[in-house]
Amino acid sequence: MEGRGDLEAILLVGGKGTRLRPLTLSVPKPLLPTAGVPFLAHQLARARAYGVRRIVFATSYRASMFAEAFGDGSSFGLELAYMTEETPLGTGGAIRNAAEALTSPPGAPVLILNGDILSGHDIGAQVERHVTAGAAVTLHLTEVDDPSRFGCVPTDESGRVTAFLEKTPNPVTNRINAGCYVFTRSVIDTIPAGEVVSVERETFPGLIEAGEQVLGYADRSYWLDVGTPAAFVQGSRDLVLGTLSSPALPGPPGEVLALPGAMIPSDAKVGGGTVVGAGAVVESGAQVSGSVIGAGAVIRAGAVVSDSVVGTGARIESGAVVRDSVVGDEAVVGPGNELRAGARLWPGVHLPACAVRFSSDV
Ligand code: GTP
Repeated sequence: MEGRGDLEAILLVGGKGTRLRPLTLSVPKPLLPTAGVPFLAHQLARARAYGVRRIVFATSYRASMFAEAFGDGSSFGLELAYMTEETPLGTGGAIRNAAEALTSPPGAPVLILNGDILSGHDIGAQVERHVTAGAAVTLHLTEVDDPSRFGCVPTDESGRVTAFLEKTPNPVTNRINAGCYVFTRSVIDTIPAGEVVSVERETFPGLIEAGEQVLGYADRSYWLDVGTPAAFVQGSRDLVLGTLSSPALPGPPGEVLALPGAMIPSDAKVGGGTVVGAGAVVESGAQVSGSVIGAGAVIRAGAVVSDSVVGTGARIESGAVVRDSVVGDEAVVGPGNELRAGARLWPGVHLPACAVRFSSDV
């Protein structure tokens, strides 16, 4: 559903992204290059397509990098503003703080987006449902196959959220909080200012307790939280392959997205939604699938890389194997090494022989 065209949003991007280290040591999670552009570019383009006009970024960790990347937003047809927390205020505190920069009147709907979610859901339909019902908050709920890994969000037959339940081995519903909310502006103003507040643990349960109308907007469209390395790689792969279409993808969807200056000879096997960064080199006979290869990285002849992130300027030498792993910027995986199953090599580390570090050690 096409949006209203005058919608304001708050984008939560202040988290430290600890689960994505070492990728997030120098770059905040929402700015990590994903399918050829900063992750957020996909979200901004989708939001714009649904009628969002102005977005306030709620920043904290490495705050200045967001304005450097997106400026005033005019290249996206958006107006962007930035609000920074000196110390992180949690999701609720961040929304309250960023709301100081909103221009919407008290009765207007305001969209809240988590900066690490890829979602194909119809934002316009979610906003419409909120406005039609006159709700306090309308949450996007997604249905997952294994809800035991998440807190779950049951609703009654009219779609009203009845509780926020913690993780349990036997969840009562497979619907979970998908991290995209519509708030009536005046409801944001009831969140205490200048305090650490969690919307999930405090604001939403408090509103339900007070009898306010908290609605669920449930669907089963594409949805992914890119908080872990495996999910981050999957998100990039899905965007490159076109599983989730993005107006920000810098090229047609397909097996490979090669950025300007990338070198891929015809006898290298590269596919499965791989992005090869600007100036990166994949040598003859190398095999790369479903991976994110950073700018200026080198994958030598005979190396194998699958479902992994290879950082900017990193090198995978001949005969090395990297599967389901993260190789930090400028790191080198020497010949004969094998990284797999969640291994993470820190930036600049040089692996001369078969020394392997697994994520379980981190
Ligand atoms: P991990 O450390 O790996 O859990 O990642 P994270 O720090 O991003 O936390 P999480 O995934 O729970 O955060 C959900 C969203 O809220 C992300 O978009 C974060 O950037 C954002 N976020 C979390 N805490 C804060 C905060 O205190 N302030 C602001 N502005 N944003 C936050």
